[in-house]
Amino acid sequence: MTAAEKEEELFRGYPRGWFVIGVSKELGPGDVRPIRYFGREMVLYRSESGKAVVHDAFCPHLGAHLGHGGKVVGESIVCPFHAWRFDETGKCVEVPYAKRVPPRACVENNPVVEQNGLIFVWNAHAEGEEPTWQIPEIPEYGTEGWTDWGSELIEIQTHPKEIVENLADKGHFGPVHGTWANEFGNEFKGHIGIQRVKGVAYPRGGGEDPFELQSTYYGPGYMLTEMQSVLPNIMLLCHTPVDENKVHVRIGAMIDISNVKEGKDSFIEGYRQNIIVGFKEDIAIWENKKYRARPILCDGDGDIGGLRRWYQKFYMSQAEVGY
Ligand code: FES
Ligand SMILES: [Fe+2]
Repeated sequence: MTAAEKEEELFRGYPRGWFVIGVSKELGPGDVRPIRYFGREMVLYRSESGKAVVHDAFCPHLGAHLGHGGKVVGESIVCPFHAWRFDETGKCVEVPYAKRVPPRACVENNPVVEQNGLIFVWNAHAEGEEPTWQIPEIPEYGTEGWTDWGSELIEIQTHPKEIVENLADKGHFGPVHGTWANEFGNEFKGHIGIQRVKGVAYPRGGGEDPFELQSTYYGPGYMLTEMQSVLPNIMLLCHTPVDENKVHVRIGAMIDISNVKEGKDSFIEGYRQNIIVGFKEDIAIWENKKYRARPILCDGDGDIGGLRRWYQKFYMSQAEVGY
């Protein structure tokens, strides 16, 4: 195996960590959805008391998909085929036509948290692996004056490493986004990856806007960008692997509109569209490019190597990495 092939090999499978699988307010109590991420079929539901739960999809009995016709009863889900009932830990607690519940009957459960209006699932590498970091709360989220994310879901044919690599790709700002980074830096510490940029944007409509931003990945798939701009705002860019060459990207922005007096809705709409257009400029590149395990880089490039070493850790075991 060549060194390049070895590096490709490091990105087989799926990264470990928290991934966004839905928007909290779009899942009401009693709602059941089939979902497919990390090459696995799963069921997402919200219990009657309001807890979001994610199990692997297939019933241990005769294999029905709990997400297609499963029903929420209290804090549990009932299989559509023979009505076996599973509690929020995935354990079978009732078989309506049996005297005794088979003790080993359970569906695998996945850790879930809801934070900042989003539903996250922990993609584990080993059964029973517990999350090793938390998703921080955004203090402004849900407070007066701030909008919600208004996020859009986009499906992209690419490997997630291409999306993450943007964090260190200083050179693409100008050609792809029409912005120039005068100051650019990355920092990688544990599960956190940061990009700091000071630059100038040249909007398509003319003029020039100086900007300053910090983008932070909390783990492999959830990034927030705080931008010092006309209005304070936080941009959401998260991606979740569907399979090894397809990702779901959710993109949105919460904006402080407390000082916008008129035309709030059209302002928000225009602002979000701007972000989404910027992101779509990247997509066309990702969907058609090839991954170079041994790229030829120049002195003006960002720390692509540092980023790759940081991102590879999410493909390694908790024991090897330590987080
Ligand atoms: S397949 Fe689920 S109860 Fe029979
Ligand atoms: Fe980009």
